[in-house]
Amino acid sequence: MNLFFERFSGSGYICAHRGARSIAPENTVLALEQARLCGADLWETDVRLSADGELVLFHDQTLERTTDVAALETLYSRKPWKLSDFSFEELCLLNAGSWFLRDDPFGTIASGEVGGVDVPKIKAQKIPLLNETLRYSLRHDFPLNLEIKDQSATAGAQLVVDSVLKQLRETGTEPLVLISSFNHDYLRLLKQLNPNIATAALVEDSHPENLIDYLQDLAVEAYHPDQLITDADLINELTSKGIRVNLWTVNDIQRARHFFAAGATFICTDWPQHLVADRHSA
Ligand code: G3P
Ligand code: MG
Repeated sequence: MNLFFERFSGSGYICAHRGARSIAPENTVLALEQARLCGADLWETDVRLSADGELVLFHDQTLERTTDVAALETLYSRKPWKLSDFSFEELCLLNAGSWFLRDDPFGTIASGEVGGVDVPKIKAQKIPLLNETLRYSLRHDFPLNLEIKDQSATAGAQLVVDSVLKQLRETGTEPLVLISSFNHDYLRLLKQLNPNIATAALVEDSHPENLIDYLQDLAVEAYHPDQLITDADLINELTSKGIRVNLWTVNDIQRARHFFAAGATFICTDWPQHLVADRHSA
């Protein structure tokens, strides 16, 4: 039986995109902790395979934007630093927090929303194993939307899907996890291997033709379109067929309210702390 959505009745839930990425380096344990502490209902993260087959949390295909790889002379020759070319032991050499202090990507350091007390923790962040973050989610009963990044250029679908399912089984986190992907072959395979795992189809630029038939054929519980191609009519149509709709990435409070009123179960946001505050003030 599929349990993930049982805890999400109706609409209005807030999902911290890549963790609370406006106040901590994305896809790190700190971003996950901040997501939970700020009151988000769930968190979203991206998973990739290292060269030696370990599942790690990381968004980009290459390591440059969110680690210090470019500053490490010994690794310079490995440019363009594709994560899938590095073993987990090598990934452990990298710092995944200092870039956030350097770039201040959301201006939250300049604004004081990230305080000086947070700096040592930010500096200490590494690329996490999926396994340790699943265990954190389980300990705190904090559900997650796990996005499997497309590995088709490197590992086959079977390897990444098998590895993810193994981790969920070993940690006992199947009911806590919704798996999404832009690679819909992964979702099809997942359902064949374990129909109890909730799945969601991600799309960015356009909707597949014959959308409802398409999603029913994939047997997904949810549809995750980019918010820019979504309106209330689409949400109504899908929810009336029993398909949940969750949007990304919604950083504007008015847009979030609009989608919730239309029946979206959750929205993924870079600013979970602000949307939670808005919910409390409503
Ligand atoms: O799952 C929603 C969103 O995370 C998809 O885009 O590029 O942020 O992983 P991206
Ligand atoms: Mg993602």
